Amino acid sequence: MSPPTVAHVKWMEVFETGIPELDGWHRRLVDRCNALLVLAATKAAWPQVVASTNDLVSDCIAHFHFEEELMERTAFPRLVAHRAAHRELEARLRGLAAQMQAADGTLPAHAALVSSLGLELIELMIRHDLDYRSHVLYAQGQ
Ligand SMILES: [Fe+2]
Ligand SMILES: [Fe+2]
Repeated sequence: MSPPTVAHVKWMEVFETGIPELDGWHRRLVDRCNALLVLAATKAAWPQVVASTNDLVSDCIAHFHFEEELMERTAFPRLVAHRAAHRELEARLRGLAAQMQAADGTLPAHAALVSSLGLELIELMIRHDLDYRSHVLYAQGQ
């Protein structure tokens, strides 16, 4: 029997910003998201899934702060809007983590919560960042 196919976030070249530290962050977040998706799909113990979600949420929040500093340093003109989008995403991520914490993992809807939001948020977060890629590269004189 072939192993079950697990939905995962596929890293695409279009995600590359050309800024090594930022790309490193994004790749780590994608890896962590994929590890979480595997845990949920292979029916790992629910507390482990919840702990992995909490780690991912903490990493995402740390990442947003890193980006905001980068945007400040390079005087990104749409910093205010980008920061607001981060706060919105942060609230959604915290809401997801809280929902999972309150659940027990016995319903298919609980695992579905992980896979749909995990995929959606990582993709959104990275695609959203393409807005300032050219700005940052220009500011760095590349
Ligand atoms: Fe990002
Ligand atoms: Fe961002």
